[in-house]
Order: sequence, then structure tokens, then C-alpha cells
Amino acid sequence: MYKGIYYTHLISVNIFLLIYIVKTVMLLANKEESLVRFTKGIKVPEMIVSTLFLITGIYMLIQAPDVTVLQIIKIILVFASIPVAVVGFKKRKKVLAVLSVLMIIAAYGLAEVNKKHRLSKPVTEENVPASTAVNGHDIFMANCTSCHGVDGKAGLSGAKDLSVSTLDQNTQEEIIRNGKAPMPGYSGILTEEQIKAVAEYSATLRK
Ligand code: HEC
Repeated sequence: MYKGIYYTHLISVNIFLLIYIVKTVMLLANKEESLVRFTKGIKVPEMIVSTLFLITGIYMLIQAPDVTVLQIIKIILVFASIPVAVVGFKKRKKVLAVLSVLMIIAAYGLAEVNKKHRLSKPVTEENVPASTAVNGHDIFMANCTSCHGVDGKAGLSGAKDLSVSTLDQNTQEEIIRNGKAPMPGYSGILTEEQIKAVAEYSATLRK
């Protein structure tokens, strides 16, 4: 369920952005006729896409274990871009149209920064930075509980229940290393040794 929503969000954000870029390019190039035609033709799909984009975004936000400042800025940018875009395109104000596109792109960029930021600054129960922890339990507490929960069963953000996982050690390490959307990959964040340790720990959560 979450996974489907996550992909719907990604796809609708991309289409939404694309529509705005096309419109802005037409406006900047003074292609008035094309702009009118495109705006008219795309009206219904645009409404569907923007509704999907907002609803899935709100759903994911409700599901999120915590909301960061970056996420709040992102949401403000998205909502602020709407009136800017409406006025920009209606009144044919190039500056406003470009500004609205930039705001959406900035929000998009922030979402990416937020992901990295979140991963690079985990804090464990005992406040051991994950980068120095080699103990599977500590690494798990620092990086994994926000989705999997302390017992591995939480299933937040579409996460699999680790207590019923049947994957072997290698496959688990592979998933932890490279991720499996929406789970992020941990290569570059955790060392190979840490990945191995946390995979071993994750297997101990099984019944
Ligand atoms: C952002 C949320 C999130 C975080 C953080 C996260 N996971 Fe996951 N994890 C998921 C999701 C979602 C899946 C399911 C992916 C799929 O198969 O579609 C998953 C699947 C897995 C699986 C495969 C289970 C199976 O049987 O298929 C393992 C193992 C796993 N995670 C371990 C970890 C470990 C260890 C960490 C911390 C280093 C971690 N995860 C952090 C979301 C997360």
C-alpha cells in the first residue's frame, strides 16, 4: 500500500513539474497560442496529477515517523508555489512563472537533501553515533527503527516485518547495502562490517 502511494507520489510530482516547465518555456518563448492550447488540453490531467500529488504527499506525511524542519520548508514551498503559479500564468508574468517552477524544484531538491540528512545523522538509544557503532543492535536502533520499529515488526513507511523475514544473510545484506525502495541503501553510510552486523542482528528478531 505505502509503496504504491510512494511511487504514485514520485510519478505525479515528476509529471506536475514537467507540465509547469513546458508551460514556462512556452511563456518565456512568447508562444501565446501554444500556451493557450496546451493549458486547455492539459487542464484535466493536470488537475488529476496535482490532486494525486497532494493527497499522496499528505498521506506520506501522516505516516512519517517524524517531520523535519526541511520537510516543513518543503511543504511551505509547494503550497506557496501554487498562488505564484496561478497569478504568473494568468497574468503572463514571466518572473512569477519561473519563480513558481524554481520553488517546486527547490522543494524537490529539499526532499532529496532531507533523505540524506536523515540517514547521516542517526542517534542511537544510548546516543552512540551510528558511524562508530559496530554492534548490530546499536546500528539497528540508530538507523532502522523509524520504519521497522524496535522489534522489527512496526512496518512503517511500507517496511517489511523483519520477524517473519525468510531471507538469507547475503540477501539481507544486499537489501541493506543497496536499499529497496522506499527503503534507502546504506552503502556509504554504514561500513561493510556494520552492514553485516546489522543484518545478523535483524535475523535475531525472528521468532
Ligand atoms: C525508510 C524506511 C526504512 C528504513 C529506515 C529501513 N528500512 Fe528496511 N525496509 C523498508 C521497506 C519499505 C522494506 C520493504 C522493501 C520491499 O521489499 O519492497 C524493507 C525491507 C527490509 C528487509 C527485507 C525484509 C524481507 O524479508 O524482505 C530487511 C532485511 C531490512 N529492511 C532491514 C533494514 C535494516 C537493517 C535497516 C537499517 C540499517 C532498515 N531496514 C532500514 C523500509 C525501511
